[in-house]
Amino acid sequence: MFPENFVWGVASSAYQIEGRDREDGAGTCIWDTFAREGKVLEGANAEVSCDHIHRYREDFALMRLLGVKHYRFSLSWSRILPKGTGEVNRKAIDLYRDMILEMKKNGVTPYITMFHWEFPQALQDKGGWVNRESVKWFENYAKVVAENFSDLCEYFITFNEPQCFIGLGNLTGIHAPGLKLPLRDTFQMAHHMLLAHGSAVLALRKYAEREIKIGYAPTCSVAYPWHKPGAGYDPADIEAARGVYFGMKEELHNWTWNVSWFSDPVFLGKYPQEGLEKYRDYLPEITEEDMKLISQPLDFMGQNIYNGYQIRAGADGKPEYVSRTPGHGKTASQWPVTPECLYWGIKFLYERYQTPIYITENGMSCHDMVSSDGKVHDRNRIDFLDAYLSGLSGLFAEGVDLRGYFAWTFLDNFEWEKGYHERFGLVYVDFATQKRIPKDSAYWYQKVMESNGACL
Ligand code: NOJ
Repeated sequence: MFPENFVWGVASSAYQIEGRDREDGAGTCIWDTFAREGKVLEGANAEVSCDHIHRYREDFALMRLLGVKHYRFSLSWSRILPKGTGEVNRKAIDLYRDMILEMKKNGVTPYITMFHWEFPQALQDKGGWVNRESVKWFENYAKVVAENFSDLCEYFITFNEPQCFIGLGNLTGIHAPGLKLPLRDTFQMAHHMLLAHGSAVLALRKYAEREIKIGYAPTCSVAYPWHKPGAGYDPADIEAARGVYFGMKEELHNWTWNVSWFSDPVFLGKYPQEGLEKYRDYLPEITEEDMKLISQPLDFMGQNIYNGYQIRAGADGKPEYVSRTPGHGKTASQWPVTPECLYWGIKFLYERYQTPIYITENGMSCHDMVSSDGKVHDRNRIDFLDAYLSGLSGLFAEGVDLRGYFAWTFLDNFEWEKGYHERFGLVYVDFATQKRIPKDSAYWYQKVMESNGACL
């Protein structure tokens, strides 16, 4: 049973759906540059994408029709502050205010993410997140956000998936800005990001016109315990999975995939000891004052969860991976289908951080197509969501304070370096005509939301 006020919603991000209207004074961001350099699959870009910037009225009307009442979306920093700092682009403020009013007219509650990866190019040119000034840049942006939107919106999230924009963007170079920086720089960036988060929380509260709720939305791949066929869970396997989930990654090029490195400082006020030792040679100076700033009290924790891997206690007591059966289900992104990850991921997080949680993203990519009847029959996505969500009800009986779930995503959109190769939407977008077609999963999710999960 889901609690009465459980929040069912959908999520998106600015760069993935808006389109880049050059008339409105928006500045260039690192993803514009990355796409222009031809680094996105099939040479794609987000110049038009879902053209949401011109079609949001119909998109919010469609949300209403499909019973969506909560919507997590992001603001584009470079649209609001074309140079990242300095002059505010009034047209962008007007645009987002109008969007929020339009959402509300349609009965949709807004949840604003401040940063969903599209960093202003002008700031990248000044060294980006490696530059300690980035803390101030983000703090200033937070002030602008609070001053202009806090009268209309109650929920704010500072960062989306810092692991990705640091790890994929600056370590492996798969994402914009496409850099392969030395490890030391990436640890420095992560520390700056955390400081920027703390400073933004202070600025949001200081300049907001009313009491607001603030969270943070990292990501993870969940280590969950092996379910021995024909038997239950063994406490030793649960312990082993928990240890791996919060443990430090062995391979340094994978270090950003840590859960605790990105969340312990925020929610517990300290970096994990294991990491301080393992990564010692790469760490920047970390002061007590830094840790105080980073660990501002938050109202909630957001977590994006898509998949995980099984762990058991090996013969020598050491955790070991349990390999999947050949042919195990995968999404179009080649991510394994692992419904257990939602239950275990949230349970472990709540045990450790004792903070109300929202699942700020979860969903499935498919190669959806319009069938000859004009509809999109995405039975796989329904089964995926059904299996993932069904695991959640057990959490409530255990006292886990899980407040909500946001399906990724409302509209098919620009999937970063993969362009338009994979579709995550509940609503199909024909990118040639901009026609929206709710998929079968959208109608299914409507029932889930309406029945508060009773139909799962
Ligand atoms: C996480 C990101 O926040 C989002 O932007 C992306 O589209 C989804 N995962 C799917 O990859």
